[in-house]
Amino acid sequence: MRIIKKGRGGFSRNFFDNKTYPEFNCLNATFTIRSLQTMIYEKLLQDNKAWADNMLVHDPEFFHRLMNVQTPEILWIGCSDSRVPPDQITQTKPGEIFIHRNVANLVIHTDLNLLSVLQYAVEVLKVNHIIICGHYGCGGVKAAMGRSSLGIINKWLRNIKDVYRFHHDELEAIPDEDKRLNRLIELNIVEQVNNLAKTSIVQHAWKERQAPHLHGWVYSLADGIINPLFDMAPGTHLEHPIYEYDNL
Ligand code: CO
Repeated sequence: MRIIKKGRGGFSRNFFDNKTYPEFNCLNATFTIRSLQTMIYEKLLQDNKAWADNMLVHDPEFFHRLMNVQTPEILWIGCSDSRVPPDQITQTKPGEIFIHRNVANLVIHTDLNLLSVLQYAVEVLKVNHIIICGHYGCGGVKAAMGRSSLGIINKWLRNIKDVYRFHHDELEAIPDEDKRLNRLIELNIVEQVNNLAKTSIVQHAWKERQAPHLHGWVYSLADGIINPLFDMAPGTHLEHPIYEYDNL
């Protein structure tokens, strides 16, 4: 069965450029959901081509320079949220930041994906800074504050529930729910920076080359501004010496 959507629908008309999709000039356009999805996909490819052309206009050697080497100074660990694109909000160009994203910007010591990114960034790329950037209004943290079972993501969000438990007294003293959520978002970022410092990868690099510096930042969806929350310099002692390896 073909699903037919009639009329203007709920889609932003600005999204489509009328030159490419003249049928959108017709307010009573009839189109299938399937063809709309194809158009969204095609628009990405068209915009990519326009972007690449534009980069070459401003810097003809840009792609050639980056082809065989990347030397980013920064590893960015951020939330997967589509509203927090790391390179756009920091105006960084390709080659400048190495990026890992997951739901609620967590650093879990059994996450092979994150640990592989971390090891490569620290030991091969030798980044000098690692930024964990969360954001106010984070849906992952909000879900962790609730009590609904959401399936497999329960296991991921459990880590944030633990952060809540560590800071139970402070959080329970905040009566406003949104303010309590935003404070948990901040505490989660600080916790994840500490989790980075607990890895043998970071501790070994601290001992070997006195880097990387660790930073916890929070981004505001309301005004697009990033606020630095928390820094950890190389060699900083951890909350308990049991986390500090003595044979690296
Ligand atoms: Co988020």
